[in-house]
Amino acid sequence: MIERVQTGVYGLDELIEGGFPKGRTILVSGGTGAGKTIFGMQYLYRGAVEYGEPGVFVTLDERPELIRQDMTRFNWDIPKLEKKNMIAILDASSARAGFPSEEKYRIPDTSLDVDRLLLRIMQVVDEIGAKRLVLDSVAGLSAHIDSIHEIRRTILKVNYMLMRTDVTAVITSEVPEQGFTAGPMQFSKYGVEEYVADGVIVLHYLGFGTSDTRTLYIRKMRGTRHAEEILPMHITQKGIVVRKPEEPGERIY
Ligand SMILES: Nc1ncnc2c1ncn2[C@@H]1O[C@H](COP(=O)(O)OP(=O)(O)OP(=O)(O)O)[C@@H](O)[C@H]1O
Ligand SMILES: [Mg+2]
Repeated sequence: MIERVQTGVYGLDELIEGGFPKGRTILVSGGTGAGKTIFGMQYLYRGAVEYGEPGVFVTLDERPELIRQDMTRFNWDIPKLEKKNMIAILDASSARAGFPSEEKYRIPDTSLDVDRLLLRIMQVVDEIGAKRLVLDSVAGLSAHIDSIHEIRRTILKVNYMLMRTDVTAVITSEVPEQGFTAGPMQFSKYGVEEYVADGVIVLHYLGFGTSDTRTLYIRKMRGTRHAEEILPMHITQKGIVVRKPEEPGERIY
């Protein structure tokens, strides 16, 4: 029996047998503005509020204060959860930019070294007893890594690190903008992240036209029977909602 971790994304759990397989690493990929950061924060926010599970958000791209601010749009009071040690934001974005961070959880050095970052992540996970982890995004990790081989090795390292904890991780990755018809689908920036991850969720944003321009697609979820279609996705006042197209049901947005 595979234990499940509820995703916190409205409508998603019932499409993947109850949630992510516990202790595994899930890749959430998509182009810019596809909703990766919101997905990651929703996983942690609802994980904390609904399921009582602490989570660590490692931000490599965006400054923590901007993330906190953006999330107020969904009425997610992140600072309140940080005070309760239910969410910790680890600031790796400042170190990447070469600026000192004023955050409680930060990378002390201005040069971002992957091994040191992973060690720091483990410390913060231990400190708050995290069950959930988000790494946003893997592209940030790779600023100093220039070969596909190194990227693959880094993600494997993250996986091994996580195996020693019972943390279930969401890692985000950018993909170049592409249509569904434009040649073979690419699911991640480097084309290797998906092989190392236990699950791959692809977010897509058409960016124009009707309101139904966002989709979510479960490309793989190891050990799980999952929905196989491209699902309509909405970003609502409560966060991300997905629903099987043939199931009208109650509209919760
Ligand atoms: N309150 C909201 N209601 C509806 N849509 C929103 C709301 N807030 C943000 N969005 C949409 O979500 C997008 C931002 O989502 P998010 O930051 O998660 O994207 P991302 O995939 O992380 O992008 P990037 O790769 O640039 O970091 C916005 O561009 C906007 O389209
Ligand atoms: Mg983002």
